[in-house]
Amino acid sequence: MDRLFVTGGARLDGIVRVAGAKNSALKLMAASLMAPGRSTVRNVPRISDCAVMAEMLEHFGVEVIQEGDTFALDASDVVDVEAPHELVRAMRASIVVLGPLLARCGRARVSLPGGDEIGARPVDLHVRGLERMGATVGAEHGFLVAEAARLRGAPITLDYPSVTATENLLMAAVLAKGTTVIDNAAREPEIADLAMFLTSMGARIAGAGSSTIEIDGVDALEPADHTTLPDRIEAGTWAAAAVATRGDVTVSNAVPEHLELLLSKLSDAGAAVSFGDDGLRIRQEGRVRAMDFVTLPYPGIATDFQPILMAMLATADGTSIATENVFEARFLYVGELLRMGADIRTEGHHAVIRGVERLSAAPVRALDIRAGAAMVIAGLCAEGVTEVADMQHVDRGYEDFEAKLERLGAEVRRERELVTLP
Ligand code: EPU
Repeated sequence: MDRLFVTGGARLDGIVRVAGAKNSALKLMAASLMAPGRSTVRNVPRISDCAVMAEMLEHFGVEVIQEGDTFALDASDVVDVEAPHELVRAMRASIVVLGPLLARCGRARVSLPGGDEIGARPVDLHVRGLERMGATVGAEHGFLVAEAARLRGAPITLDYPSVTATENLLMAAVLAKGTTVIDNAAREPEIADLAMFLTSMGARIAGAGSSTIEIDGVDALEPADHTTLPDRIEAGTWAAAAVATRGDVTVSNAVPEHLELLLSKLSDAGAAVSFGDDGLRIRQEGRVRAMDFVTLPYPGIATDFQPILMAMLATADGTSIATENVFEARFLYVGELLRMGADIRTEGHHAVIRGVERLSAAPVRALDIRAGAAMVIAGLCAEGVTEVADMQHVDRGYEDFEAKLERLGAEVRRERELVTLP
């Protein structure tokens, strides 16, 4: 349970390069399960969630060779189809092995993810979609058990454009017999990235990245080589941190089209946003202006930005209103911001943020990946030294977080917890 000590008052300044997208790399790694032979996934962020996924794949029998940010994944032999509880508990995104295992092996057992600090995280949409494709899905002893000798293509309309449900169904449909049409599919760029990888493996997919995806099932896939797209959530985190600290940060390797709405909101907050050869430059002079925002599935403002924008608006001039529409419990971390002197009231899925001049350092916790990043940003805007506990959450999703902060001029120090063996 590492702690990060963040000295307040720094103004972030410089260039930061974003890593590959966590929420793409995890699915690309899972997809490698579907093609016998050796696939390569490049630009994988060096974060603990990807290490958990690698461990999971090894558990299934995949040979994993990592060299820097490149993973060679040899799925010639898949010998186990059970995603164990210890790994799923460490990373709820493990549910994305369900579709690939079922499609490749005709059977999958995945420990049920359960709830966490951002909500209940049900998997009903994954289950119903697979059932539409002819799978038998049940729950036993805390595991989701799915079986289908061969999945059949089917029309599927999602009640909600869930990201991982879309991905699971897309991967399952690729090896199904016949055509699947997923309507009300999630449109996140990571889904188009996954479809690109699957297509280079021989899948036939049209419309990925739009709300209707059509998949013509094929009998088998070939291994392929793919480079993960850049992490838009990491890029947005640095952009918001630049604004919060009244800094001047150039985010290199970001894809501005993936950040359109966020950037327009940062402009509303007073930032000067420009694109140059080095990347996306965000400059903030003077106090952040209050602004309202609403989280929505892509292309709306990602729910993952919500805690980060709240930390930024905590010291804005005026009152802002945030509306969280994606996860029902994603305001739990607000209590930590209150401990730092923020003036925020939540009511259902709305939050009213009355900007204060300055936050004051306090010991706080990182409740999840994004709330953790938000606490660090709040620490940068606070008077004194903020101690952020449970930094392992941040390590799940951000590569070299504090090294990048330091290069941008922040003063941070990690205290690692020493594990005492009995
Ligand atoms: N939902 C259901 N039933 C389902 C699936 C989802 O009701 O079967 C509901 C959820 O409870 C939630 C909403 O649908 O209220 C959206 O959930 P979604 O399934 O889209 O989220 P996810 O696939 O579990 C991914 C990202 C999250 C990101 C969300 C929303 C991955 C591994 N995770 O989660 O990323 O917040 O989409 O964009 O792709 C993070 O990176 O820190 C993170 C939490």
